[in-house]
Amino acid sequence: MSPSRFKLCFAGLLSLVGVAAVDNIATGNTTADTTHLQTWWHDHGEINYKTPVSAENVRQSHLYSVWVKSTADSTNTYYNSFVYETIPRNGQEKVVIPGSSITGGPYDSVTIEASLWMTMGWTQFLHNEDAWVKISRGDNSTTARDVVIRPTNLNLTVTDDGEGNIYILVPYREQGLRFSVEFKDNLYSYRDSCETPLCDFVQDWHSDGPHYVETLDETTNPVMGEEPHDALLIFASPFPSSDLIPDKTATDTYVVYPGPVPDLGSIKNSVVYFTPGTYYMTATAHAKLSSSVNWVYLASGAYVKGAIQFTTAATTIKATGHGVLSGEQYVYQANTLLGYTNVKSNIASLRMWSGYSKSGVQQTFVITGVTTNAPPFNSIDFSGDLDTISINQWDYKQVGAFFGQTDGTTLYSGSNVHDIFYHSNDDTIKTYGSNILVRDVVIWKGKTAPIVQFGWQSRDLANITVDGVDVVHMKYSSNTSHPSIVGANQVYGVDETWTNTADLSKTVRDMYIGNVRAEGIGGNLLRICPLANYQNVVIENVSLDRVSPRTNGIYQSEMPVFKNWLGKSVDIKGFVIRGFTVGGEKITQKAGNYGPDALGGLNIADELLQSGSVVIE
Ligand SMILES: *[C@@H]1O[C@H](CO)[C@@H](O)[C@H](O)[C@H]1NC(C)=O
Ligand SMILES: *[C@@H]1O[C@H](CO)[C@@H](O)[C@H](O)[C@H]1NC(C)=O
Ligand SMILES: *[C@@H]1O[C@H](CO)[C@@H](O)[C@H](O)[C@H]1NC(C)=O
Ligand SMILES: *[C@@H]1O[C@H](CO)[C@@H](O)[C@H](O)[C@H]1NC(C)=O
Ligand SMILES: *[C@@H]1O[C@H](CO)[C@@H](O)[C@H](O)[C@H]1NC(C)=O
Ligand SMILES: *[C@@H]1O[C@H](CO)[C@@H](O)[C@H](O)[C@H]1NC(C)=O
Repeated sequence: MSPSRFKLCFAGLLSLVGVAAVDNIATGNTTADTTHLQTWWHDHGEINYKTPVSAENVRQSHLYSVWVKSTADSTNTYYNSFVYETIPRNGQEKVVIPGSSITGGPYDSVTIEASLWMTMGWTQFLHNEDAWVKISRGDNSTTARDVVIRPTNLNLTVTDDGEGNIYILVPYREQGLRFSVEFKDNLYSYRDSCETPLCDFVQDWHSDGPHYVETLDETTNPVMGEEPHDALLIFASPFPSSDLIPDKTATDTYVVYPGPVPDLGSIKNSVVYFTPGTYYMTATAHAKLSSSVNWVYLASGAYVKGAIQFTTAATTIKATGHGVLSGEQYVYQANTLLGYTNVKSNIASLRMWSGYSKSGVQQTFVITGVTTNAPPFNSIDFSGDLDTISINQWDYKQVGAFFGQTDGTTLYSGSNVHDIFYHSNDDTIKTYGSNILVRDVVIWKGKTAPIVQFGWQSRDLANITVDGVDVVHMKYSSNTSHPSIVGANQVYGVDETWTNTADLSKTVRDMYIGNVRAEGIGGNLLRICPLANYQNVVIENVSLDRVSPRTNGIYQSEMPVFKNWLGKSVDIKGFVIRGFTVGGEKITQKAGNYGPDALGGLNIADELLQSGSVVIE
């Protein structure tokens, strides 16, 4: 028996104590590439949670190590699975000009997070049988009872080995699983600064840091959210079907190899294939693809620092593979018309994924498998004819959305979205078109804007379903930006008090938002500025675990009456809130617990309730 063989057996014996099978631990960062499991590793991992990592390196978790074992593997081997890490602002100050030391850029929503060294880690693997995930926190020992998995209703089995490691049984599901692993000794309570609606978070860790207060006080600094200090997300995906993997050897495939990304703007191929490894585009460039390219593939283990812009008129545009597209090199709001500087422009600020929708041609953007990290702005947007583009998105992950305007995906008419994880700091499920279906989304929500958004202008919308949303965290600090599950904001750029801005020629009809579970402390049910008529809008089975304290208005839902400029009110019919609960208590008109001062906190215009236009049952 060789020494290493002996070590394997010894490790196996030890683990007998906690888990049933005799396990082997693969040595030397060995990854799995079997018929049941694929994991991967980066040789260029850099452990550094404070500053930007070198261009050719991938930030690696400074705390967590993860191994995965397929229950179908007769050798019982645990294989390494690389744990990525992302940090607020990529460890930089508020840089205005990329690469310069000129800081002091505009408010970017990162207030105390950077000074507290918040981190978010994740790992991703592919499997087709149940798998055990083993997690170690180095010197910090963990027992199963110190761990919470969110969404909690996944009911995953967690065990430990008495040696400080925990094990999670991840059932195989064809839609994959995306969850957060949280350790009781690693939680941070975000406290607010004062009792007015404009407040932000405060901290007592660094006296020379931002928003410092010497003593946090329960009354004036209430807890507004609780999150892991060092998040760990597990993304378990099925193996992709063959139509999602391009032929690497085909002449039509342009294969990119690790290092600086070459110019992809004049190639003649239709497929761009990123092999495993690290790529970078720098802070002042992104890939504007030639119009021949309709498919970008990020292989498992590809980590591309950059952003992708399609220019093709193809009817199907694809982004597939289980690699990562990371915006970490860019400054906030990187303005592509102004040298990628931090100057906000809803037109020119860089999107991680973008394209131009050709007028008159129905196009679909299929995006699946990939993880988008550290977006500097909205992450997915098209320009051009927005009536002829739809999004087909599943098994998609967004992480590291620490900056302010880091929306989820803009959903145009005909979009179909399911089995997603969004860490987002702004409007997240953006139902801006008709015939949209959204199912089974896990959301980790930052400070700004509601989770489901369908406002900012008067819209004609019909046939929208959002069914199955698990909100694992919400972290609202202020009342100023619709801290809600469901929101329809006022006209973009005007004050919310301008209630004469509705357009009565438009109607929102047949909208269903249901089965939304929000864990922990968070925002309110809804803030709706009805800029159009509403017909048959149903909000069903939304549960809020705990609402925030009453001092700053965040807990309160608002639905006033809006009128057109001539003073004529919008017509609202069949707006139903059904099965809404707060802390397990059902909120209804009959029970009398719905009002602004009651548990439900619903400040809905009296005339809407009295006329039966809005019903709470
Ligand atoms: C495994 O990864 C660790 C951390 O990146 C590194 O220090 C070590 O050298 C690697 N071991 C092998 C055998 O590659
Ligand atoms: C988890 O357990 C709860 C309570 O027993 C149950 O209501 C729920 O359906 C379970 N969820 C799953 C996904 O099995
Ligand atoms: C152990 O936990 C503490 C508290 O969360 C953390 O500060 C420290 O970095 C952890 N160390 C390791 C090795 O996990
Ligand atoms: C409603 O939207 C769904 C999902 O996009 C679609 O399948 C269905 O055909 C639409 N119904 C109508 C009547 O257009
Ligand atoms: C809403 O919740 C109730 C009570 O839990 C349940 O009976 C009903 O089926 C749910 N509705 C939907 C559409 O899932
Ligand atoms: C919170 O904001 C809403 C507007 O969305 C406003 O109607 C309400 O009065 C505000 N609450 C407080 C306490 O300022």
